Formats: sequence, structure tokens, C-alpha cells
Amino acid sequence: MADMIEIDEADGRPRFALHGRDFSYVFAITLEGLAKHIYYGERVADAIGLSGLHRRVSRENTAWHEQYRHSSLNDLPQEYPVAGASDYRHVCLDGETSDGRSLGTLVYRDHTVCAGAPDLDGLPGGAADGAQTLTVAMTDPVTGIVAELLYTVWANHGVLGRAVRFSNHSGTTITLRRALSACLAMPPGRYDALHLHGSWAHEFQQERIRLPTAQLVAESTRGTSSAAHHPFIALLSPDATEEAGEVTALALVYSGNHRHTAERGEYGDVRLSAGINPSGFSWRLEPGETFTAPQALSVRTSDGLGAMSHAWHDFVREKISPPRWRGVSRPSYLNTWEAAYFDVNEQKVVGLAERAASLGLDMLVLDDGWFEGRTHAATSLGVWHADKERFPSGISTLAKSVAAVGVRFGLWVEPEMVSPDSPLLIDHPDWILAVPGRTPSVGRAQLTLDLTNPSVTDYLYRQIADLLACGDVSYVKWDMNRPMTDVGSSWLPAERQRETAHRYTLALYALLDRLTIAFPDVLFEACASGGNRFDLGMLSYCPQGWLSDMVDPIGRAAIVSGASLVYPTDVMAAYIGPSPNHQNGRVTSLSTRMHAGAMLAAQGVSLGAADLDANEGALRTFAADCDERRHRRLGARFDRLLVGDNETIWQQTSADGSFVSLVDLYRLARPNAPYRRARLRGLAPEARYRAVFDGTIHSGAALMGPGLALPHSTMMMDGEGAYMPPGDFSSVLLELERL
Ligand code: DGJ
Repeated sequence: MADMIEIDEADGRPRFALHGRDFSYVFAITLEGLAKHIYYGERVADAIGLSGLHRRVSRENTAWHEQYRHSSLNDLPQEYPVAGASDYRHVCLDGETSDGRSLGTLVYRDHTVCAGAPDLDGLPGGAADGAQTLTVAMTDPVTGIVAELLYTVWANHGVLGRAVRFSNHSGTTITLRRALSACLAMPPGRYDALHLHGSWAHEFQQERIRLPTAQLVAESTRGTSSAAHHPFIALLSPDATEEAGEVTALALVYSGNHRHTAERGEYGDVRLSAGINPSGFSWRLEPGETFTAPQALSVRTSDGLGAMSHAWHDFVREKISPPRWRGVSRPSYLNTWEAAYFDVNEQKVVGLAERAASLGLDMLVLDDGWFEGRTHAATSLGVWHADKERFPSGISTLAKSVAAVGVRFGLWVEPEMVSPDSPLLIDHPDWILAVPGRTPSVGRAQLTLDLTNPSVTDYLYRQIADLLACGDVSYVKWDMNRPMTDVGSSWLPAERQRETAHRYTLALYALLDRLTIAFPDVLFEACASGGNRFDLGMLSYCPQGWLSDMVDPIGRAAIVSGASLVYPTDVMAAYIGPSPNHQNGRVTSLSTRMHAGAMLAAQGVSLGAADLDANEGALRTFAADCDERRHRRLGARFDRLLVGDNETIWQQTSADGSFVSLVDLYRLARPNAPYRRARLRGLAPEARYRAVFDGTIHSGAALMGPGLALPHSTMMMDGEGAYMPPGDFSSVLLELERL
């Protein structure tokens, strides 16, 4: 650990080299005091000696300072650029003092190194164990702002953490209008940008495009990280594949409005940045106050997208997921949503719990519809008491009845929301996000509570804590079904209105923190109309997340593939839904529906009683498989072997390497398809593996070289390898055991 951060101060101008598991990151303070980026790449021994990588030339007629004629900031790779003094690219910081001076170029003040990760003032971030943090304080002497650039590296991880803590050392108010978390200055060249976009039931769609000589912006202004543009962007060498090529990726540990920008400048240089979206944001920093920007994490590899994902997966499992749940297997479950929607009552829920128990599932989850008056989506959010007619015994007794039939009990809530008809609004009309004089827009017929108001979060804490106090609720699905609009707070003063969205996110984190500390054994699952807030921030409190309401296996395949770029299967939840599917009407077999979620840590079923009975045998096998395989799924390696238009092939290898499974899912069958093989990854070349499906023995080298013959889709089921069920939307799960 000692050599994770190296500092050379020989000539009074510090040079810093940070080393992660397989990368080095180098920057130096220039003669003028600027923080100049030097290198981010494969780990190098003499990183400090790399300082000559950038050449300064006199390119144009604006220079930062008369004294430094070659110092055009427009041409300098910088750690934390600011506009106003010859840098015309997108910058990290903008704002002004109350007497009208804009924030300017930051110069070096001092630095410190300490063990652990920084305290991010209520924001989540990578865990402190095994970490070292370098703090480089930069200042703008004219305005008195100090920006502490926080760099964190973790032993044994390929992830670099960046955050910034601002403090006001002037005598006047400073208003921050843009306070990004990190900038990565990348060498000039051609890059592809890969980002994840989507919408409801269509999250995590991958798009790869050539980075233009312009700015590419992926952002959210919806109050949540959103499915529209995931808080992640990667720049790739144009030849990069899953197995080779340069990749630099940046993701935010944040659940609110974000902006990721990639810019190729006029000299071909590239700047990648991430942070709170400046749109709609500002923050008043009074003298002596501090403000911390969320942590941005980056991964850099020369071994392609697969290696990038493995670095993220290890990090999310070990440094983001709540420690209480690391390595803890997840219960299989029966969820009431697509089984009954709002038509739930005590008797039906206990009946479903009995069926869950007889199938061998571990938990019954009562989704939406259980609280007072909630018979449809447009009503009753806000007061979290069981509906007296449909649940006369109340939640704690119901939870006990469910426990009595042999399964655990889980409950859905959507605490951040309120329906316009809620009695809560009669007492507290000012508890919603709204702009005075405007009627707030509704989304799914609901309004958003103003979490910046501590009375609101105290109320929500009490409501949820009362439900959990009985001790028989072992899981909570925390939903959030509308993006924000009318982002104004009657709690905050006029001059702080643009702090509302960020303060909301901070308050949400504080509420989740409080609840998860008070109820450490309750498993929280993050959900926001599916995957609208599936991000590193929420996953810091919730050990798992609901990826999408798209449970049709074909629709789901692309979502799992996209999400797996960043997230390990340990944090993903899935269930087998009805067929025809309720989102797109597609008819699929139970086994294809099962295979689409087969590699995820949290698996369940959401089927009505008739469907459960009709598929009893297969669901029993499903529940038994969940039981038997759950330990192999934790910490497993995940590889995208093929993400094609007609076919998806995933490989999962247990952490100890002893089990390997492949899921092959395709859309349309075709006769006489070419004979195909899947080349497996990450096996021990000299080890031998037995294919469970046909008993054949293969060496790791053969499986990774020539590959494993894939089954054909054929109407003739008796040929060699003809074990892919015929028809469209078919799939197969192939397992191998290491001998
Ligand atoms: C949206 C979620 O994604 C669904 O799974 C379900 O919980 C509904 N909300 C309930 O309203």
C-alpha cells in the first residue's frame, strides 16, 4: 500500500503518481502553479519520470498570462479547468462572488496524503478500507475559493476516485454555478464514445458512436440519474472490443441530475468530465462554508470492455455495496405486482405465500396496492398504513402470517411521493416540490415530496420505521415512479431554490442511511419505475436494484447486457413474469423467461395463482436451482460473449472458477444455421471441465480457443448438439463443472 501514491518535490513543483491495481495516474504542478495532467494508463514503474509527455507550443494569441506566453490553457491537459483565461473548452468550475467577480484559474496551494477515502459530506463513495487519498488544494486568489481535488486509489482495484471539496475563504458569498467532480484529459486521437440511454422498460441501451470534434453530452435533468442517460460514459479506441483495446470510463456515485461531457477539441485533444448537472443548479457558499461534489470513479484498461466491466464489478461488490450484504446470498421470491397488480388483499397474499412456500421460494413480496385506498395508481400515496378493508389485520400481523407459512415477507413502498388526494397534503400543502404560483405537473398522477424539508424526511422515517419495527419485514422495495418537475422548495429561501434538486438527493441518502442503520437486516432494493435510478449512489445503500419493468426475456437481454457494463450481477434483480408479456405482448416459454434472469443474484417470480399452478413443476425446479446455485452467483465473473441483434450469449464463472454457465438467448430461429462455437473467457487453460448437459470433457484451453459448440435450433431434437428448443425466442442454459 505504501507505494500507491508517490510524490516528488525535488524542484519545489510537486509531481504526483497514483497507482491502482493495474494503472498509474500522473499529474504535476507547473511553473505557474497549474495542475497539469500527464498520464493515465497502464501501471508504470517510473511514473514520476513521465512528466515530459506534453509539449507546449505557441498555438494562438491568448495565453493565460503575459509572463507565460506558451501557456494557453486551451492547449494544456488540466486536472480541473476553469473558464475565463484562455480555456475555451468545457470546464469544471463556474461561479462568482457576490461582488461580481467570476471564479478563475486555480493554482496550487498545498497537498496532503492520508489513509482511507475522503468524507464526502453526506454523499456516498467508495469504501475507505484499502484506500489512500491525495488531497491537492488549489485556489483562486482573486475570489478566495479553494478547491481540494481529492484523488483516491484502492489497493487491488482498477478504479480511481475523484471528488472536489470547495471552501469559501473570502469574506463574501460565492455562488457555484458549475462544480463538476472530475475531468480526465485524454491524449489527442480518435475515440468512440459508449453511453447507455433508454426509457421506461427500455433501460441500459448501448450506443457507440465516433466522438466528433464537438461536445457529446449525456445528462439528466429529471432529478434522478434516469434511464434516459445513465451516469456513465466510456471513451474507446475505435478498434476496442470486449477483449482488447483502450477504454477509459467515467461514472458518478450520484443519483440526481448529472452531466457527462466528452469533448474533442480543436487540436484533437479530448476532455471527459462528470458531475452534478449545472443546468438548474447553483449553490451559495457563505464565508467559511464547504461544498462537496459527488465522487466520480474512473476505470482505464487496454484490455477492452470486458476488462473494464470486471474492474467495475469487483469495485461495486467490494467498495460500493453495503458491507452488511457483501457476499450474502439473496432470497428467491414471489412478487405480487404482475400476479395481482392493485387487486391484493390479506387472503390472496397469504394464499400466494403458501404457494411460494410450496414451490420452495424464500419470500413473498407485497408490491404496490396494500395501503389505505390504493386501488389504482392515481391515489393514496403519502400515508403508509395498511388498507383497513383489504388488510384488516395490518402489515405486522400479515408479515407474521406469511412467516407462519414458511416464507419471509417483503414490502413495496414509494416514500418520496404523494398523491394529490392524500390527507397528508391537507395538513401539509407545502410539503411538495412546487414553484409558487404554478400548479405542479403530475407524473403517474403523483407529486414529489420536498425532501429538503427535514420535517418531511422525519415523517417518512417514522412511517417506514413503524412498518419495519415489527421485525417480520425482511425486504423493502423502494420505488420512485416519476421524474421531478417544478423543482422548487417552500422550505428553502429564494436564493437557494437552485439547490433544491441536489439537497433532495442528499436528503434521500440521509434517509436511506438512517433507515438502513436502524434496520440493518432488512434488504433494500432500489427501484424507480424500473431502472430510472439504478446507479452507484443508490447501490451504496441498497444491495440490489430492479433493473427494468421489461421482464420479457428478449427485451430484458439487452438491458442486462448494457447494465453489465458497469454493474455486477450481484446487484441485479429479476423475476419471471407472465406470458404474453405485459409490457410488449410477446409470448415466450417459461424456460426462456427463466434464462434471462438466470445469472442474477436476486431472482423471483411474478405470476398469478393460475400460472403458478400450471407451471408448478418447472417453478419448483426454478426455486431449487435458485437455492443450489445462489452461492455460485455471488462474486461471479460475468462476460458478454455475444451481444448481437438476433442472439445474446453470456458466460458466468463462479468466483472459485469451479462452475461455468452459459446462457444463449435468441430472437428468431432459422433452419440450417451455421455451425457455431462460443469461445469462453477467463478459464484455467490447463484445467478440465465437464459439460453437465452431455458429459463431454474439455480443457480450458480448448474452451477458450476453438470454443464450445453451440446448440442448433432445429425441429429434429435427436441430433448431436440439438438441444436448443425449437422456435423463436428460444434459449438454453449450458453448465460446465471444473474437474
Ligand atoms: C414500478 C416498478 O418498477 C414495478 O416493479 C412496480 O413496483 C410498480 N412500480 C408498482 O407501482
